[in-house]
Amino acid sequence: MPGPDNRSVPRHVAIIMDGNGRWAQQRGLPRVAGHRAGAEALRRTLQAAADNGVEVLTIYAFSSENWRRSEEEISDLTALMRYYLERELKSLEKERVRLQLIGDYSAFGPDLVQRLEKAVERTKDNDRLTLVIALNYGSRAEIAAAVRKLAARVAAGEIQAGEIDEQSIDSELQTHDLPELDLLIRTSGEVRLSNFLLWQAAYAELLFLDTLWPDFDEKAFTHALDRFASRQRRFGGR
Ligand code: FPP
Repeated sequence: MPGPDNRSVPRHVAIIMDGNGRWAQQRGLPRVAGHRAGAEALRRTLQAAADNGVEVLTIYAFSSENWRRSEEEISDLTALMRYYLERELKSLEKERVRLQLIGDYSAFGPDLVQRLEKAVERTKDNDRLTLVIALNYGSRAEIAAAVRKLAARVAAGEIQAGEIDEQSIDSELQTHDLPELDLLIRTSGEVRLSNFLLWQAAYAELLFLDTLWPDFDEKAFTHALDRFASRQRRFGGR
């Protein structure tokens, strides 16, 4: 899609926000300080995404593997999410950001679930940018759930097994109503997808940056968009 200055702007960007712990460690701070700084980086990135005409930003806030962290860190992360939701809801509304969730977020308990669902409900008509937060998300579990639903429809005689195709699997994923993923960014130098959007990333550009997530800012985001645009141009020229 051509952007304001005729660049190719990705419609859907996903980010694995990695490196909060190392950022804190480098400063002799507790890990939670890294997550707090990470929440600020998310705020900056959300603004930059909206300003640059990105339609959907999907962030990996908590993976299904993150339950292996210490109880203290898990409770710090959930407290931070609660605080962020409380504090940011007004600005999400002001900036016309629609919030959506993927992953089995029911695992976070009734209080946070209620706050999350309230934020989704309150922002559902916003149309500037969609922020999708992946919470207790795992891509393989998502694909398995989609396959189970299709198998149940086969068992009920609604569809034939032979009719199952890429489209029917896609339409059972939690991302079924979002545009195709164009660009996936991972910060902190790790070159892995870590069970994030495996199906959705089939044709996405993958960008692995050395920046630690708390240092990510508008400049880093526009740099990522430029890299995307130049790869698109190369591809188009072939
Ligand atoms: C990865 O860094 C980051 C996380 C597991 C959590 C991401 C959470 C935030 C950015 C907080 C804000 C989120 C919301 C939705 C308010 P890491 O701890 O794995 O870093 P390390 O690899 O350096 O240890």
